[in-house]
Amino acid sequence: MSDAFNVEFVVSPSPPLAGRFPVAGDKSISHRAVMLGAIAEGVTEIEGLLEGEDVLATVAAMRAMGVRIEGPSGGAARIHGVGLKGLTAPQGPLDMGNSGTAMRLLSGLLAGQSFAAELVGDESLMRRPMERVAAPLRDMGARVTTRDGKPPVSIEPAPDGLHGVVHHLQVASAQLKSALLLAGLYARGETRVLEPAVTRDHTERMLEGFGCRLHRGEDWVAVGGGQVLEATAIKVPGDISSAAFFLVGAAMRPGAEVIVEGVGVNPSRTGILNVLERMGAPIDRLDERIVAGEPVADLRVRGGVLTGIEVATEWVSLAIDEFPAICIAAAAATGETTIRGASELRVKESDRIAAMATGLRRLGIDVTEFDDGMAIRGGPIAGGSVDSRSDHRIAMAFAVAGASATGAVRIADCRNVATSFPDFVEVATAAGIRIEENLSAGPA
Ligand code: S3P
Repeated sequence: MSDAFNVEFVVSPSPPLAGRFPVAGDKSISHRAVMLGAIAEGVTEIEGLLEGEDVLATVAAMRAMGVRIEGPSGGAARIHGVGLKGLTAPQGPLDMGNSGTAMRLLSGLLAGQSFAAELVGDESLMRRPMERVAAPLRDMGARVTTRDGKPPVSIEPAPDGLHGVVHHLQVASAQLKSALLLAGLYARGETRVLEPAVTRDHTERMLEGFGCRLHRGEDWVAVGGGQVLEATAIKVPGDISSAAFFLVGAAMRPGAEVIVEGVGVNPSRTGILNVLERMGAPIDRLDERIVAGEPVADLRVRGGVLTGIEVATEWVSLAIDEFPAICIAAAAATGETTIRGASELRVKESDRIAAMATGLRRLGIDVTEFDDGMAIRGGPIAGGSVDSRSDHRIAMAFAVAGASATGAVRIADCRNVATSFPDFVEVATAAGIRIEENLSAGPA
């Protein structure tokens, strides 16, 4: 997306967080709703769609391939599905902005089309690994190439069409699993994916919601090709990855209490709740319900004194996007918190291990960095200046740290908060965080 201006956050020491509020719609579910709605038969009505830049990139890509989309506006969108074979060739490269999810899932979806396409993105996305998705797609007969393993991802029609495979994922990644399932819709026979650890299963749940038959075991899923998706209604829950900043901000401050309303609590996403509970924060799931095939609850957290823990490696894939926030909880906890088995954090929107370690040290916290994680020794969080490295979740994590710091925390390069949580500053302000947003001209 364009770099027309910089955003800096300045957060001043704030009272304990308080209030009851919703957060932005789930990013993962929003991408999938737009993509599956586009290739379904009929009109898919979506409520609660995240109108962040990442999802808007997916909306623009589907429009560029001939899909009529009304909205999104106020979270509502109507996707006029063109059916499995109805997409048309885009006029130019599809720009996925900052979004790895959009690029990887679309690589799978486009592998089965009868036209060529090219996927590009912003500076951060152009540095991210794409062979992990291209190679298994090639095993299915697809013509997918990358440049030195990175974008642009170029996709040509498969000369003999796609065929099903049995694929053992090398990394626990819902993006890869989903890309293969989407390609599997276009393949002859069955596509079976086995995962080394549980990852988010939104694609599986939503495919079933569109009437698609899947076979599933504890660590595998299989889809048969050629199935027709039937348009449906989707209500997107609040994003637990956005809620996480407020859950942590409240949990680490005695006297705080927040209720985040309507949050998706799919068990493949709730690693953050396990971590905070193990650190000593009481979290209540109020009014648990199922909405459009996904579990949802209002999450209440009361602040207190947190204790450092060893984060269980089996929780890593269940909390993969929450580590920036978890690092802040660790900084506020007594004792040491260790995170291992999390080398995937190095290839997210930024190298999140390096970004968090560097920023925390700037705020006076003692951190040891490992290839696959870090050890954080809790202590008073001082004021200071940190760099978000254009990574939305690093920016929001340090904003929460600033609320409990002893002096002002300045966070550079926060523009990409708009990719996942466009009204973060408003929600943070409503929760009591003293946050100022400074805009300036020019690229970061
Ligand atoms: C996502 C999966 C995760 C996550 C990303 C969203 C998804 O990535 O980090 O923000 O929507 O499938 P990986 O699958 O690469 O771990």
